[in-house]
Amino acid sequence: MRILLLGSGGREHAFAWKISQSPKTNKLFIAPGNAGTASLGTNVDIASNDFPSLKKFVLENKVNMVLVGPEEPLVLGIYDFFKADDDLCSIPVIGPSKIGAQLEGSKDFAKAFMLRHKIPTAKYFSVEKSNLSQGISFLHSLKAPYVLKADGLAAGKGVLIIDNLAEAEQELTSMLNGRFGQASEKVVIEEFLSGIECSVFVMTDGKSYKILPQAKDYKRIGEGETGPNTGGMGAISPVSFVDDAFMEKVETRIIKPTIEGLIKENIDYKGFIFLGLIKVDNEPMVIEYNCRMGDPETESVMLRIESDFVDLLEGISHNNLSEKELKIDSRFAVTVVLVAGGYPGEYEKGKLISGLEELADCQCFHAGTRAESGEILTNGGRVMAISAYGNNKQEALDKCFINANKVIFEGKYFRSDIGFDL
Ligand code: AMP
Ligand code: GLY
Repeated sequence: MRILLLGSGGREHAFAWKISQSPKTNKLFIAPGNAGTASLGTNVDIASNDFPSLKKFVLENKVNMVLVGPEEPLVLGIYDFFKADDDLCSIPVIGPSKIGAQLEGSKDFAKAFMLRHKIPTAKYFSVEKSNLSQGISFLHSLKAPYVLKADGLAAGKGVLIIDNLAEAEQELTSMLNGRFGQASEKVVIEEFLSGIECSVFVMTDGKSYKILPQAKDYKRIGEGETGPNTGGMGAISPVSFVDDAFMEKVETRIIKPTIEGLIKENIDYKGFIFLGLIKVDNEPMVIEYNCRMGDPETESVMLRIESDFVDLLEGISHNNLSEKELKIDSRFAVTVVLVAGGYPGEYEKGKLISGLEELADCQCFHAGTRAESGEILTNGGRVMAISAYGNNKQEALDKCFINANKVIFEGKYFRSDIGFDL
């Protein structure tokens, strides 16, 4: 197989690590990739949204499978672009169709889908300028805090949780007036749910599905889950409060109705479904769907998949996922993300990274890095993720922290409390 992987983060380095272990992989390209993926395959300088350039590359290089890491190309319709093109239609894209990707691309679409298929989620109301007064009435019917979500993609920043009703009304108006650009021309107002969150990942060929190891991520910059939101500061798998009884509920009440709903609505979906869940009084509810794997959860989840990952991807593309075996490593896998000083606010790039040759008994997945004249430099806010196994959570964490301390770059920061709440 000649595989093209799209994306450039830690998630994609983790995918590349797993894909490159498969005897089925003859050649791996990553577009655009990072300094880490370059050691496992060939980085290609094409943006993952540049469909015409990707087409040319895929045909010239006889690529026979495309795995899409981030949501943006999916929401922009890369699956449909391949399907509709005479030269590309025989090349499978692992990822949902444009309409399927709306599960992430439009909060309103996702909520209406869940309502149609009786999937447990918070009460909601979708507001546009034209029905603002009804939106305000709905806000008044809720108890604080108030949850406002930009309908469209807003780089993970489009959710506001506000304690005060007057302020929530003001923010609602400011969102509708373009606070998040086009993404907040429509806003979903939600009832606030109180509980502990986890991420459950499903791979599907559109008919059958496999449930991948669950994980918990840590989104805030500060210890104790405080301060501004980030792209993710760490992850743990498995999650102690996600036991068999809870997963049984997740499968019957959420996963099965989701897959059946997609089938009923004729939505092509061949890829990953990321369920952002919250446990409320021991019952699972959906906070959000994503149409891709999570980052940094993937950096832990890939460690726990023992099966040939490319064989599983082929199960998706050949519609025979149900015949494939998914073997899961019972050990813990933990990820700690190293970020640039100042992130998620302003930060500098181009800092020299050293100490990587000292790392032991862990996997180092690059995110915001680039290679220049034989050196590795920082090139983003989340710089790299250190992942390790352990027979228990603490053993895995200890290995991550020992190695996180060995990596040196100016301004390096990481959270030393990942998993503190489990
Ligand atoms: P989302 O982008 O939908 O995942 O929302 C970002 C974060 O906001 C989630 O991970 C939750 O921590 C929080 N959140 C979103 N919706 C709700 C809700 N209805 N109740 C409580 N917290 C929420
Ligand atoms: N870790 C959360 C996300 O990937 O959206």
